[in-house]
This record gives sequence, structure tokens and C-alpha cells, in this order.
Amino acid sequence: MSTILLAGGAGYIGSHTAVELLESGYDVIIADNYSNSCPEVINRVEEITGKSVKAYEVDIKDKEKVDALFSENKIDAVIHFAGLKAVGESVAMPVAYYRNNIDTTLTLLECMEKHGVKNIIFSSSATVYGEENPVPYTEEMKRGTCTNPYGWTKVMMEQILEDAAKADKDLSVVLLRYFNPIGAHVSGKIGEDPQGIPNNLMPYVAQVAVGRREKLTIFGRDYDTPDGTCRRDYIHVTDLAKGHVKAIDYVFGAKGVEIFNLGTGTPYSVTEIVETFENVNNIKINHVYGERRPGDLAESYANADKALKVLGWKTEKTLADMCRDTWNWQKNNPNGYRK
Ligand code: NAD
Ligand code: WQD
Repeated sequence: MSTILLAGGAGYIGSHTAVELLESGYDVIIADNYSNSCPEVINRVEEITGKSVKAYEVDIKDKEKVDALFSENKIDAVIHFAGLKAVGESVAMPVAYYRNNIDTTLTLLECMEKHGVKNIIFSSSATVYGEENPVPYTEEMKRGTCTNPYGWTKVMMEQILEDAAKADKDLSVVLLRYFNPIGAHVSGKIGEDPQGIPNNLMPYVAQVAVGRREKLTIFGRDYDTPDGTCRRDYIHVTDLAKGHVKAIDYVFGAKGVEIFNLGTGTPYSVTEIVETFENVNNIKINHVYGERRPGDLAESYANADKALKVLGWKTEKTLADMCRDTWNWQKNNPNGYRK
């Protein structure tokens, strides 16, 4: 069976992907510096799957250590999740974002080349469609103008991977453009565990529900949308993780670069998220309406046809599932992975 290296695999999306890969029979190695995650994640993944996971505490920018990891293991494919991802922080610390996100990508590509590993899947983002493209987004649209350094790192890394594949005809690259992942594994054992004040909507809602935050501020209600609040393509993290298994199956038989949107294709507004969370979980979310957040687009959602056609993948979970599973994780782990 093939062995998949998950760089940044202890994080939110990586841990859910590890579960789905293990359950599909793949061997998994996680390499993470735990800058935004905890080693406890590894135990939880093992508990859920009953399988063991080889884990390395390593900074993916550290070429010597990554090289040693490739020497010690026969790796068949890499999934590159390792990145800093907080949009606001990227505006305040652009150099740290460019250094971490781009350097990890270059280090992985160099080690792959040295060790003859030809398959890589990259965690890209809907953010690369930028401000100009109309919704729903399709994969052949040109990458647009981003509003923050985080987004630009994704644009740049897509370009780097495309150029690498042009130069090495045996390289197989899959760029997965995620929309808005939310929810948690149905077991409630793994989920999203942001450090400090959450930037993203769903973790904020969950922390209000569990009493860690007093109230949610909904950013803007004067957008040109049906209820005036922004609309996004929220996708259950387990559906997203299953998309990676399909992408791994695909990457082995392919050459060159292929891009896939991973979204549901159906947008929901902020107000709909809050209402669904309240109804499904029978809990009130204290909220107020505030100013627009700078850089937010009114709408972002996928055309998800290509992933269905080429990968045979589509989402299965509903918004109610996403809200229920988020709450199940948060109420069982009020402080995330920390006691
Ligand atoms: P996350 O922060 O939970 O996971 C990223 C993991 O990478 C963390 O465990 C972190 O410790 C690790 N990491 C970061 N820099 C590293 C380094 N130099 N060396 C080793 N490990 C390092 O984030 P996530 O939500 O799981 O996102 C995974 C990937 O998907 C990221 O690249 C992110 O940009 C991308 N993405 C996320 C979203 C989202 O909304 N969550 C949307 C689109 C794309
Ligand atoms: C969703 C909606 C907010 C918090 C970001 C990145 C994107 C991708 C996913 C990585 C928006 C509103 C939020 C709050 C609110 N990440 N909101 N009150 O901005 O769509 O996407 O994460 O690639 O690149 O930009 O996600 O969860 O931050 O916001 O009203 O306290 O919720 O205005 O409309 P976003 P989000």
C-alpha cells in the first residue's frame, strides 16, 4: 500500500484527511512543527482509526530534517497542508507568511526531486479567484487579485508548482482549492482548535455557544445578497478530507497539473449559519450586527462539477451536519486539545 506524507498533517484539515486515508488503507506519515496544532491530535487519529501513525516533529522549512525523513521512508505522495493561514495576521506579518508558506513548498519540492517522489497535492484556496472573478468560480478562470498576503502566498505557490510540473514531465500536481471548511469528525474526537480569538466564523460561533466568547459580531448586513450578509460555500471537513483520498487515487495515474474546486456549490449566508446552528443544537448564539470586515467579498462559492466529473467526488453532508458536528466537538472539548 502507498505511503502518504502529510506535511502539516496535525492541523485541522490534515488530521481529518489522515483519518480518511487510513480508513481507505493508505499508510500515513505526519510531519508538523505544531506551530498551530498539538501532538495530542496524533493520539486522537489513532483512537478513531485503530491504526498507528508515524509522526515527526519537524519544521518543513528545515531541509536537512525533511531530507532525512525522505531518506528514512519510502514516500509515494505528499500532501502539503503546512502553512500559516490567518488572513489578518498575514497583513501584519507579511514576511513571516511569505517565508513560511513559500519556503515549505520549495523545501518539499527539492526533497521530492532528490528522492524521486513525483506526486504532490497542494492545499490551495478559493481565495486565489481574487476580487475580479464572478461566482460561481470555475477552475479555468485566471487567478485574480488577492486582498492580503496570505492569499498571495497561495497564488505564488500555485505558480511555483505549475512551473515545477512544466520542467519535470513526470511530476503530477493536484491543486485543491478549498472553499470554507467547517464541522468536525462525527466522533467528536478531532476538530478545529484555533489559538486565541478565532478569525473564522464557525469556530467563533462554537466558542460563543460554549461560553468562551460573549457574543458574535456579524460583519456587515448591507451586502448585495438575499439577506444582506455575506454568502460562502461551507463544506464539511470530512467531505473535504474524502476529496483528498480521491485526489490521491487520481494523482498516481496522472502527469502535469490538475486543479479542483472542493466545495458544495451552494452558498449560505452568515445569518443562515447562525440560525441553523441554533436550531440544530437547540442553543442560542448571542449576536450583534457590526461593520463590514475589510477585504471581505459579498459572495464566494464553487462550481463543483469538475471534481464530480473527473474524481467522482461530491459532498454528502448537509449544513445541519456541519453545525451538529461542530458543536459535538466543541462541547466535548471546550478548550480544544488542551485540558
Ligand atoms: P491548520 O493551521 O490547522 O493546519 C496547518 C498545519 O501546518 C498546522 O498543524 C501547523 O502546525 C502546520 N505548519 C505550519 N507551518 C509549518 C511548518 N513550517 N512546518 C511544519 N508544520 C507547519 O490549518 P488548516 O485549516 O488545516 O489548513 C491546512 C491548509 O489548508 C493550509 O495550507 C491552509 O492555508 C489551507 N486552507 C485552509 C482553509 C481553511 O479555511 N481552513 C481554506 C483554504 C485553504
Ligand atoms: C466567513 C463569513 C465574514 C467571523 C477565510 C479566508 C479564506 C479561506 C477560508 C484559507 C464572512 C463572517 C466571520 C465573525 C462574521 N482560508 N464573519 N463574524 O473570510 O470567507 O474565508 O477562511 O484559505 O482564504 O479568507 O471565512 O470564516 O472568516 O468568514 O460575520 O466573527 O463570516 O464576514 O462573511 P472567509 P470566515
